[in-house]
Amino acid sequence: MISITTDGGVQGLHLRFTGEHRSSMDDKATTTPDVARFNRWAATYDESVLQRWYFGPVHARMLDLLMQEAPEKPPRCIVDVGCGTGRLLRAVSVRWPEAQLIGVDPAGQMVSQADRLCPKATFKVAPAESLPLPGESADIVLSSISFHHWAEQGRGLQEIARVLRPEGLFCLADHTFRLAGLFGGKVRSRDEIRGLLMSAGLAVRRYRRLRVRCVLIAVAQKGPAGAS
Ligand SMILES: C[S@@+](CC[C@H](N)C(=O)[O-])C[C@H]1O[C@@H](n2cnc3c(N)ncnc32)[C@H](O)[C@@H]1O
Repeated sequence: MISITTDGGVQGLHLRFTGEHRSSMDDKATTTPDVARFNRWAATYDESVLQRWYFGPVHARMLDLLMQEAPEKPPRCIVDVGCGTGRLLRAVSVRWPEAQLIGVDPAGQMVSQADRLCPKATFKVAPAESLPLPGESADIVLSSISFHHWAEQGRGLQEIARVLRPEGLFCLADHTFRLAGLFGGKVRSRDEIRGLLMSAGLAVRRYRRLRVRCVLIAVAQKGPAGAS
């Protein structure tokens, strides 16, 4: 990205090369009403009653499933997409203390809280649709109750497939409760989720339903090296 800045005391304009690439997709995905709502909620998000009743049990079940599916070799790099305040990564750091942890979320205020609450991890402000991570760099990618907020779900899943190493795992948890769609989200059925994952090159290995909370958890895997 090239930005034009004025420098205090020095006259004239300076071109600053940041090395970052910003696309119109970044802008579209980071300026949605959902992202604005999470920016407003960030300061009190962790105190919500939903943490104990809803998010906590979903996170625990995701990690249980991953422990069953993950290879015996400990993961080196784990990424949480739509990480919010980093609560899931805090639980991950207990199970895999040696892993490098990266959280990504387009809501800058959520990321500020995450930075404060989870110093073991690195956080980046970005949407799923444009992950600021190198290809084939993550062993595990997680995403919890975020998918229905994404502006372009197919594009986000392609990005996740890109950053996963061959045979890496993706664990996605989201509502499959259709009425939740009335509030503006893109809630998908289990079959739609499987189709979207497959189109991105991710094959579902296992599902788990948390019926009381109307949440589906899917663990999918990228193919081996060289597979298209
Ligand atoms: C309900 S919160 C869940 C946060 C966290 N995953 C958790 O389980 O506590 C949904 C998160 O999705 C994020 N989000 C919204 N649009 C997104 C996008 N396009 N890509 C990634 N995350 C997004 C929001 O900013 C918010 O932090």
